Amino acid sequence: MVEKLEKIKSEALKAINDCLNEVDLNNIKSKYMGKKSEFTEIMAGMAKLLQEEKKNVGIKSNEVRTAISEALDERLKSIKAESLNKKLEQDKIDISLPSKKVRMGTRHPLTIVREEIEDLFISMGYDVVDGPEIETDNYAFEMLNLPKSHPARDAQDSFYITEEMLLRPHTSPVQIRSMLANEEKKPFKLICPGKTYRRDDDDATHSHQFSQIEGLVVGENISLSDLKGTLEVFARKMFGRSREIRFRSSFFPFTEPSYEVDVSCFNCDSKGCNICKGTGWIEILGCGMVHPNVLENCGFDHTKYQGFAFGVGIERVASLKYGVNNIRDYFTNDYRFLSNFDRKEM
Ligand code: PHE
Repeated sequence: MVEKLEKIKSEALKAINDCLNEVDLNNIKSKYMGKKSEFTEIMAGMAKLLQEEKKNVGIKSNEVRTAISEALDERLKSIKAESLNKKLEQDKIDISLPSKKVRMGTRHPLTIVREEIEDLFISMGYDVVDGPEIETDNYAFEMLNLPKSHPARDAQDSFYITEEMLLRPHTSPVQIRSMLANEEKKPFKLICPGKTYRRDDDDATHSHQFSQIEGLVVGENISLSDLKGTLEVFARKMFGRSREIRFRSSFFPFTEPSYEVDVSCFNCDSKGCNICKGTGWIEILGCGMVHPNVLENCGFDHTKYQGFAFGVGIERVASLKYGVNNIRDYFTNDYRFLSNFDRKEM
C-alpha cells in the first residue's frame, strides 16, 4: 500500500507539474484526491489493516496528501502569475509609437498683415484705435463731408440697419470719434484697423466684407511731403526696400487734395507683368490731406492744423504679398489655404 501511495504521489506531482491551466489543475485535484480517487479508497480501506501497517500507511498517506496539496497550491499560484503576465504583455502600450499629431492653428493671413502694418506704425509713434462696426450715418458720412445727397456715397453705401445706422463702409468714422474725443484738440497720429462692409457684388477681387487700416495725422505744418514720406516707408516695408510710389489725382470728399497711390511692381521691378497688368505700377491705397470741413466738424482749427489721411485694404495688401487671387479664400476658413501661412514654415 505504501508503494501504491508513493506511485500516486509521483504520478500526481508529475501531472501537476505538467498542468498549464486552472481547469486542468482542478481535474487533477479530483482525480488524485477526490471522493472517487484511489487515494480516498486507500484511506477507506485503512480500517481493515493491521496495527503496524496502519501506522505506516497513515504516515505515508499524510505525507502524500501534504505533498500533493502543497504542489497544487504552488502550481495554482504560478498558473495565476503566468496568466497575469501574459495579460500584461498583451495589454502593453507601445510608448515608442508616434503619437497622433495635434494640429495647431495658425494666424490668419489678414491678421499677419494687419499686425505687420500695426507694428510699423506703432514704431513711428502712432496709436492704434478701435471703433464700432455698426455706425451712425452721421459718423460714417456726414461728419466726413459726405451729406445725405452726396453722389460719392454710392461708392461706399453699406448695409443699413435703420435710416441712421449702418455697418460701417470704412474705418474713417473711428477717426471722427477720436478727433471728437480729443478734448484739448492736440496733434495726434493714429491708425484704425477693422472690418468694413459695402454693398458690393462679390467676385474674385470684391467682397461685401473686407478689412481696412486707415491712418490719420493731425498737427501743425503737416504737408503732402509728410504723407508721401510716410507712405513710402509703408510701401517699402510691405513690398520691398527698392519700391517707389507715385501719386495719381483722385477724389474723396474728406480729403483735399486726394490721391490714389501706386507702388512699383515688386514682381517684375516695373518692367510690366500680369500682376501690374503691364503698367509697372500697382494701386494700393487712397489718401489725401484732411479736408478743412472735416477738421472743423471735429473742433480742430483748420487755420492752425493740417492733417493727412490714408486708407488701405488689408486683403489687397495680403493678396499682393502672398499671391492670393481669390478674396473669398480669406473668409472660407479652409485649412488647406490657411495652413500656408504657418509662421513656422514661412
Ligand atoms: N475712406 C476711404 C475708403 O474707404 C479711404 C481713404 C481714407 C481715402 C483716407 C483717403 C483718405 O475708400
